[in-house]
Amino acid sequence: MASQPMLLITIDGPAGAGKTTVSKMLARELGYRYLDTGALYRAVAVGARAAGIQPDDDRGLGELCKTLRLSIEGDRLVLNGVDITHRIRSPEISMLASAVSARPVVRQALLGFQREMGRTGGLVAEGRDMGTVVFPEADFKFFLDATVRQRALRRLAQYDKGEGPTLEQIEQDIRRRDQNDSSRDIAPLRPADDAVTIDSTTMTARQVVRSMMARVRRMIDPA
Ligand code: DC
Repeated sequence: MASQPMLLITIDGPAGAGKTTVSKMLARELGYRYLDTGALYRAVAVGARAAGIQPDDDRGLGELCKTLRLSIEGDRLVLNGVDITHRIRSPEISMLASAVSARPVVRQALLGFQREMGRTGGLVAEGRDMGTVVFPEADFKFFLDATVRQRALRRLAQYDKGEGPTLEQIEQDIRRRDQNDSSRDIAPLRPADDAVTIDSTTMTARQVVRSMMARVRRMIDPA
């Protein structure tokens, strides 16, 4: 049997659309690696916060990016030898990541790392600009969307009952991040012209993955 092609698949979309769950499931199903590029921007935010660098201080961010040693070890994200996997998920780091990700100096610094990960294919990469900027030549591009309310409900479900922010706070956060991410000058959040958009508002993660797999399979085995 001929060996199957190792495709490069991108999944872009706004915060809370289910990209992470779906990307991991799709990667597992295909036996591919998975790259969460939001985590890289979050790592820069953690580094900036620790060093007291403001998100609009391009010179400081540029220096910071030169000294960042980032590695992905299985499910763990390691920054300069320290495991920051859990630290990157706080609401404060989410907002800060959105702010630093609007700075060209940061995007440029992370570009090489991301492209290197995609070089050999066999990768599902999730983010905001995977299909438009980082991997314009990707074999398959998806754009995953859902209503703000549905995305906020999914985030809320990740907290223990009675803990964490309210639904209204989460919605407000999501709107602000959507606004930041789609209105910035560089690599704004938008579907690539050749992306397939999937609205996951009324779909389960499994249904989304099934729909993606059906399309990907057609490419792997068109017969
Ligand atoms: O996907 P996420 O919520 O973990 O991403 C955190 C922030 O990083 C998000 O607000 C926008 C930014 N980001 C980006 O600009 N480009 C990417 N490819 C991924 C994330």
